[in-house]
Amino acid sequence: MTHERIDPSGIPAIGDWNRLLDGKVAVVTGGGAYGIGGAICELFAAHGATVEVAEVDPDRAEAVVAAVEAAGGTARAHVVDVTTEDGVAALAASVLDAHGGIDVLVNNVGDYRPLVRFDESEPASWEAMYRINLWHVFAVTQAFLTPMIERGGGSIVNVHSVEGMRGYPGEPVYASMKAAAAHFTTSLAAGYGREGIRANGIGVDLTQTPQVDYVGRSEGHHDLWEAWAPVGRLGWPVDQARVALFLASDMSAYVTGHNIPVDGGTRAGGGWFYSPTDRRFVNRPSRL
Ligand SMILES: NC(=O)c1ccc[n+]([C@@H]2O[C@H](COP(=O)([O-])OP(=O)(O)OC[C@H]3O[C@@H](n4cnc5c(N)ncnc54)[C@H](O)[C@@H]3O)[C@@H](O)[C@H]2O)c1
Repeated sequence: MTHERIDPSGIPAIGDWNRLLDGKVAVVTGGGAYGIGGAICELFAAHGATVEVAEVDPDRAEAVVAAVEAAGGTARAHVVDVTTEDGVAALAASVLDAHGGIDVLVNNVGDYRPLVRFDESEPASWEAMYRINLWHVFAVTQAFLTPMIERGGGSIVNVHSVEGMRGYPGEPVYASMKAAAAHFTTSLAAGYGREGIRANGIGVDLTQTPQVDYVGRSEGHHDLWEAWAPVGRLGWPVDQARVALFLASDMSAYVTGHNIPVDGGTRAGGGWFYSPTDRRFVNRPSRL
């Protein structure tokens, strides 16, 4: 049997592998320094994207733009609150006025705080959880979806959590919002693929950021990091940014509707702990 080379027309060519987003316009919400969104901004800009940073904290917004520019990239800050109609409208107006459309959208804003027991939580806190983890994912996506389609398509990356992919006993409401963000991603992909839109999600876990200070909170117990995740270390924002780059670029041209846990393997080994002292796996904390 002979095989013929398939004509790859229609498959986007990867030009410069070091400039995977050359000429693209990317919006990153919560893109201030030095969380996951900040790392995404820096990596995307290093790969040639013009990055539009949507960030509520002016200092963090300014810091990420300075870091991008110092590395020779292009970024612009929009100090907006994406949990408000006005904030989303201002962001969309400014970005679309400058570029007409966008190629990449990263919905990254999210927060698990305040951590309260479900039985002690107030309905107002459920509303707040919805607003900060889900509402803006709908709102910002809707604001940019049609301009993305009109531009010929694009990639949407929703940053959520592994807590939306497994039971999270500490905070069921937060976990539910993240699960909904993952399902929104899948449904969006199914609905808009024929119009050139890809949508994928990242389920984050164990990543050191200003919001989740694993290094500080485990002071004196850093030897236990090895036990937390199968890869034996904490995650860093750049670990998440590299997967976002893959999903944003044509490297993943045939990938849509998926939610990838970027968790150092915590979900894979769920329920099991590695005991560095005993050098074996146990299904209870490793010092017990
Ligand atoms: N770090 C982790 O281990 C972890 C785990 C699970 C999920 N996540 C998710 O990853 C995403 C990023 O988290 P992070 O740890 O980098 O958080 P972070 O708080 O360090 O960064 C979030 C950024 O969003 C900005 N922001 C917050 N509210 C905003 C608003 N209303 N409008 C615009 N900007 C706003 C913040 O100022 C900050 O710069 C979130 O969706 C979070 O829920 C993180």
